[in-house]
Amino acid sequence: MSDRLEEDTVSFRVENRIAWVYFNRPEKRNCMSPKLNRQMLRTIEELEFRDDVGVLILAGEGSAWSAGMDLKEYFRENEHKGIGAVRQAQREAYSWWERLRWFEKPTIAMINGWCFGGAYGPLFACDLAFAAQDAQFGLSEINWGILPGGGASKVAAELLSFRHAMYHAMMGENLTGTQAAEWGLVNEALPADKLEARVLEVANVLLAKNPTALRSTKFAVRRVREMTYDNAEDYLIRAQESANSFDGEGRKEATRQFIDEKAFKPGLGAYDLSKKS
Ligand code: ACO
Repeated sequence: MSDRLEEDTVSFRVENRIAWVYFNRPEKRNCMSPKLNRQMLRTIEELEFRDDVGVLILAGEGSAWSAGMDLKEYFRENEHKGIGAVRQAQREAYSWWERLRWFEKPTIAMINGWCFGGAYGPLFACDLAFAAQDAQFGLSEINWGILPGGGASKVAAELLSFRHAMYHAMMGENLTGTQAAEWGLVNEALPADKLEARVLEVANVLLAKNPTALRSTKFAVRRVREMTYDNAEDYLIRAQESANSFDGEGRKEATRQFIDEKAFKPGLGAYDLSKKS
């Protein structure tokens, strides 16, 4: 097939408050070209503040989630053009991973197949990750003579134990989805034909939670990783107080439903968002 237009490198649909976003270069195993990176940033920015979107799911068309950076269009072609082109391509890639890390609504990676190298950037950017048991995860960089850059080494060091991160980065062997779940790279691995249903189930649970609380919770968990205990405690007090002034009614209503109405128990599920005191 001839080269895809930039706008065709990503596809999405919004259904029942869930944005299903797809890497859409299946013929190239969804590897990330500059065109795809630019289109993904546009897509994410378009979806972030839509009222009809409460959760974003990132999946891949065809047999891959994403086969990492495009060795031809991202690396080789830009290296031929010079350092300016290399830096621009890096910024285009890193900027959408960063937007996704700090996306204001919950994000879920649904890893249906191959997931290599640079794809660990968006993998980590998603708050939750679910994989097909037979998906393949690899830091294949070592197999073609580079280090796992573009954040990939950092993702391995963040999500895996030291020994697992070293083994994964140095050996160039793939993990199945099942192993990736055992090692903590993803939350769960499921049979491929059950993957979408499970991701949908998780998305619907998230949609029933207070969106302001979800936003501050996901940011808090990411931010406190690099703080001392005391700094985290202070940050979390301020984050909650700021969330209260942004949307203080939610927790008051939840307290009313629990204490006065005895209609729900926070330990067993979420309060009814549709009721307002
Ligand atoms: N960069 C550029 N082209 C790619 C990439 C990539 N990362 N991955 C796949 N393609 C292309 C292939 O060149 C091929 O193109 P062609 O049809 O024009 O020949 C097409 O996608 C299909 O790929 P195949 O290799 O034929 O597909 P197959 O299903 O047999 O294998 C696999 C899939 C294992 C993912 C293989 O394509 C592969 O090893 N890809 C590279 C994975 C990788 O190491 N990525 C880089 C990680 S490092 C980093 O991101 C910094």
